[in-house]
Formats: sequence, C-alpha cells, structure tokens
Amino acid sequence: MRLNSRNKQKFKRSRPLVITTYNRKGGTGKSTLTGSIAFEIYLALVDKGMSEEDASSAVAVVDRDPQGDLITWLNTRDRIGPKAVVTDLHQLSATLRRLNKEGVQVVLIDQPPGYSPLLSESLKNSNLGLICSMSGRSDINATKEAINIAREHDINFRTVLNKGIFRAKITGWGFDQLEEMGNFIPYPIYQRVEMAEAVVNNLFVQEWKKFGKSAKEINKISRSVSQALDLGGNWEGIKI
Ligand SMILES: Nc1ncnc2c1ncn2[C@@H]1O[C@H](COP(=O)(O)OP(=O)(O)OP(=O)(O)O)[C@@H](O)[C@H]1O
Ligand SMILES: [Mg+2]
Repeated sequence: MRLNSRNKQKFKRSRPLVITTYNRKGGTGKSTLTGSIAFEIYLALVDKGMSEEDASSAVAVVDRDPQGDLITWLNTRDRIGPKAVVTDLHQLSATLRRLNKEGVQVVLIDQPPGYSPLLSESLKNSNLGLICSMSGRSDINATKEAINIAREHDINFRTVLNKGIFRAKITGWGFDQLEEMGNFIPYPIYQRVEMAEAVVNNLFVQEWKKFGKSAKEINKISRSVSQALDLGGNWEGIKI
C-alpha cells in the first residue's frame, strides 16, 4: 500500500516520535548530540511535572552503531535520564512497536557514520532526520549528501552545526553554507571543553555545567527540533 502524506503522518504518529541523527562523516558529534537532546527532552518532561522515573521511561535512545559507544556510556551512568535501548540491528520496526507498547514517547536513533541499508530503515521510521555537521569542506559535502538522502526518503530534516570554533572564519563559512542549503538550525554548537569533560565524568553537559554555554546551546537546538516537529518550543505536544 502506498501512503499519501496524511496517511503517512497518521502511520508515523501511532508510534513514538522518532528522530534519527546521521551523517556519513565520522566524528561530527552525532552521538553526543543525540544523547544531549534525549536528556533535554527528559528535562522538559520533568519540568512539565512528570516524575523522573516516568520521564526516563518516555525517552529512549537506540544506538545503531555496532561499536555501541553511546549505549555503553548511557548504561555506565549512575544517574537517571533517557533509557538506553538495546536492539538487534535488523529489528528496528519490532523495537519501535515494543517501545510504543511500553509508553515510550520519543525515540532518538544514533546512526554510525557512513551509509547502509540500516540508515534507510531508520529514516523510513523517522519523523525527523537530524544531520549533524562540522564546518570543513568535506563535512559540508557529506551534509549535502545527507540532505539528498532525507529528500529521497521524503522526510523532514534539520541540519546542525557542531564543534564550531569560536570566531573562526571557517565556522562562519560553514554556517553560511548550511544556511544556503536550507532547514538549518542557525544556532551553532561550539567546540567546548565542557562538552568533552561531561562525557568523561559520566554526565550530560546539562548536569556537568547546568548554566554553562554548552547547555544553553543544546537547549536552543532542542527547542528548534521541537518546533520542527510542530511541538511548540518545548515538546508541548508530548503526552504526559
Ligand atoms: N561541541 C563539542 N565540543 C567539544 N567536543 C565535542 C563536541 N561535540 C562532540 N565532542 C567530542 O567529539 C568526539 C566525537 O563525538 P561523537 O562520538 O559524538 O561523534 P560521532 O559523530 O558520533 O562519531 P562517530 O562518527 O564515530 O559515530 C567526542 O570525544 C565528543 O566528546
Ligand atoms: Mg557516534
């Protein structure tokens, strides 16, 4: 059965909201961004009055990288936050159905670098593709390809500039390039020591430096992602 846009929307909304972070380019900060946004959604739900346990059960992270770094890291943490979901690599649809039954509201999928049929499967199941880019020429080229892939899959997408170097010309160049390509969230995430330090301390940056610059940057991105999904600025459409 071919689905028209409205049916597609219905089909997708009978499942949790799914956001896939991807880019063929390695090391652009995809996994860090995925985890940080998941934690931001968790914080938004707690802020809306949900208990920490319920919010933790409502936000799930699916790691599709065979190296499993993000899941390993999430499972090493001894603080509450988004739940880490282990899934057989070829069982995404079944996993999403199970998570739906368990009451999960939002699933963030972290893709490894490169292309594979698994990326296509993730995007087919997604409400939004989040393309995480740095600002070098090869990053921008990879991001162009990633945008084409989103278009081929007929899914909504946003691009994010990560690891920007503060006041560097190259960051401005990357910003302009991404802006020109469309669907760009115009708030760069700068390369900051606190981002890397948070991870080695088993914390999200919002926990490590609650009022720090990185936490603010992640909050802006999360709000823009929420808007891209028509959920207001603060995940307002998510049931609590
Ligand atoms: N904004 C940032 N500032 C400083 N360091 C960052 C930032 N974002 C990510 N990092 C660091 O960059 C490194 C790579 O990040 P990450 O593993 O998230 O990238 P990735 O795109 O998922 O990599 P891969 O392509 O291998 O999956 C990590 O050490 C991470 O802590
Ligand atoms: Mg990764």
